[in-house]
Amino acid sequence: MAARLGPIEAPPDSGLLGPLGPEISPLFTRPFLVLHRASELYTARICLLLLCDLGWETRLRAGATLDDLCTGLPDQARRPLAWMLPFLAAESLLAEEGGTYTLRGEPDLDLAGLREAVALEAPGHEANFDLLDGVRSHIGPFFTEGRDGDGLLFDLALFPHWLAYFRNGNLVYFPNNLLTLLALREGLPQGARVLELGGGAGSFAQLVAQRGAEEGWLERIAEYRFTDVAPTFLRRAQRGLGAAAPGLALAFQALDLNRPLEAQGIAPASLDAIVGINVLHVAHDLEATLLDLRSRLRPGGRLVLGECLKPALDTPLYIEFFFTFIKAFTGVRLDPRWRPRHGFLTPEAWDRALEHAGFRNIQHVPPPRPLMDNQPAFTVGAISASA
Ligand SMILES: C[S@@+](CC[C@H](N)C(=O)[O-])C[C@H]1O[C@@H](n2cnc3c(N)ncnc32)[C@H](O)[C@@H]1O
Repeated sequence: MAARLGPIEAPPDSGLLGPLGPEISPLFTRPFLVLHRASELYTARICLLLLCDLGWETRLRAGATLDDLCTGLPDQARRPLAWMLPFLAAESLLAEEGGTYTLRGEPDLDLAGLREAVALEAPGHEANFDLLDGVRSHIGPFFTEGRDGDGLLFDLALFPHWLAYFRNGNLVYFPNNLLTLLALREGLPQGARVLELGGGAGSFAQLVAQRGAEEGWLERIAEYRFTDVAPTFLRRAQRGLGAAAPGLALAFQALDLNRPLEAQGIAPASLDAIVGINVLHVAHDLEATLLDLRSRLRPGGRLVLGECLKPALDTPLYIEFFFTFIKAFTGVRLDPRWRPRHGFLTPEAWDRALEHAGFRNIQHVPPPRPLMDNQPAFTVGAISASA
């Protein structure tokens, strides 16, 4: 197995995890570390197989630049390819020299072996790989016909795999929710009105209900307003979240973070906390959205974000693979000062964006440096900031 996955990272030294370290270190189990590495390898192999499915093996064997590969393709193909080529080079599946990417020899593209390794060491995560296989089998027309990525990725065939991904039992997704929960829990006042942005499959609300009841702080939440822009997620939550998150004082509403909140019925200074897990990075105009969110918080209220974090803006994260096909992810308004790139950001870039929007007392759970520099598997964190 070691030969299949290569070296598996050691868990971080607890001294790197900050004051909540005792609650965070249990995330770094051997199954988590194995699944993280296997997911990285599986994603890289899927990327290369996809390029071969598209008929580009000969071009890659001869050596091709990004421009070469994009010739004759719809414009939208450039973004995912601009991500895939450096990612494949970082994973040693392509050789890169002066912007030319070359496929050499017969790289290991075995998928079944990775699945077996995970079935043994982190059972119950087949759906993560089914999602990657599904993207490979569905996304071709994005490149060949210019079809919309959202429609291809979120069709009925793939939707169950997304739901299986966004759950607390998924070892590589759970850290997003746990770290955000730890950040939200601190300083939640009695009678708190909380709003969740992009609540999706509802896994965070479920964790709030479960941990809040166990730890005795659930009754502090007077209202938990679950929101999402997608009617499918909202309807699903309205049907099932009450039972899945018992004791949580739920309210539901459709909410698009790209539209003014006032017009969507959220009054100024009406909330104690706004929480969003892996959603704020799709804000089309991050500056405008952060300003708007801040204006909806009471004095001292907090914005709490869970986000995938990059150690450096140029470092590809395997999880970005899916999102490079989604317009809302790639098509955001950039500003070198507070929105330097589309997609996931570094902790420091989030600090600058939040400070620019007037937030104070910005805190990270866990403190991201030097943790992220020492621990490549640590690519997520929570950030809380006061209005
Ligand atoms: C990565 S998922 C978060 C999943 C969720 N935290 C969970 O555990 O299931 C992002 C969510 O953001 C929602 N979303 C995307 N664009 C949005 C927008 N403009 N406004 C509000 N929500 C949005 C999506 O529908 C999706 O449910």
